[in-house]
Amino acid sequence: MWKGKNKMLNIPIILGSVREGRKSEAAAKYIHQKVRAAGHESILVDFKELSLPFYNGPTVPVVYYKKGYPNENAQKWSNIARAADAFIIVTPEYNHGYPAVLKNALDWLYTEFERKPFGLVGVSNGTVSGARVIEQLRTIIENFAAVAMRETIMIGPVEKYFNDEGQLLEPALDKKIEGLLGSLTWWAETLKNRKYADTDK
Ligand SMILES: Cc1cc2nc3c(=O)[nH]c(=O)nc-3n(C[C@H](O)[C@H](O)[C@H](O)COP(=O)(O)O)c2cc1C
Repeated sequence: MWKGKNKMLNIPIILGSVREGRKSEAAAKYIHQKVRAAGHESILVDFKELSLPFYNGPTVPVVYYKKGYPNENAQKWSNIARAADAFIIVTPEYNHGYPAVLKNALDWLYTEFERKPFGLVGVSNGTVSGARVIEQLRTIIENFAAVAMRETIMIGPVEKYFNDEGQLLEPALDKKIEGLLGSLTWWAETLKNRKYADTDK
C-alpha cells in the first residue's frame, strides 16, 4: 500500500443519504474517523445540515466558481470542495442508482472537482452492496475531468458491518479502507499542484 509522503491531505467524506434512520451514516462516520486517524484533514459533508435546493440557476453552475454562488450553502459546499485534495463518497444506492440528493449536490459544482481523485463506497441492506451506484458514479466523475479509484468498498448487508450504535462488526473493513486510502493519497499527491496546461494559474 502507498504510505504517502506524510503530507497531510484534505479529504472530505460526502454522505449520500439524508434519510431519517439512514444506515450509511455509520459507515461515513467510521471512514471519516479512519481518514483523520491516518493524519489527514477531513470533514463529513452531510446534506441534511448543508441542504441545497434543486439546482435552478439560469446557466451552468460553472459560472459561479468565480463570481460566487447564489445560495449560501452552495457557496459553503464550493469552499469545502475547492479546498479538498481528494474526496470519498459514501452512499447508498436507491433504485439501482445514485440518490437524487447526491446527484444534485454534485450538479451544483464542477470546477471544484477537476483533476481530483474520488474514492467510492457503496452501502446497502442487500448483498449487491452498492455496486451499481458505484459504477454509475464513475461516469459522472469522469465528466468532472476527475478520477475514480479502481479500489472500491462495498458495505452490504450494512447490518453485518455496523450495529445500531454505529460500532464496527466486521474488522475486514479496515483493510479495505487502508487500500482505498493508499490509492487515493497516491493520486492526490501526484495531482496536487501539478499544472495541467499553460493556461493554468
Ligand atoms: C428509496 C430507496 C431505494 C432503495 N433502493 C435500493 C436499491 O436499489 N438497492 C439496494 O441495495 N438497496 C436499496 N435501498 C435500501 C438501502 O440499501 C438501505 O436503505 C440502506 O440502509 C442504505 O441506505 P440508507 O443510508 O439511506 O439507510 C433503497 C432504499 C431507499 C430508501
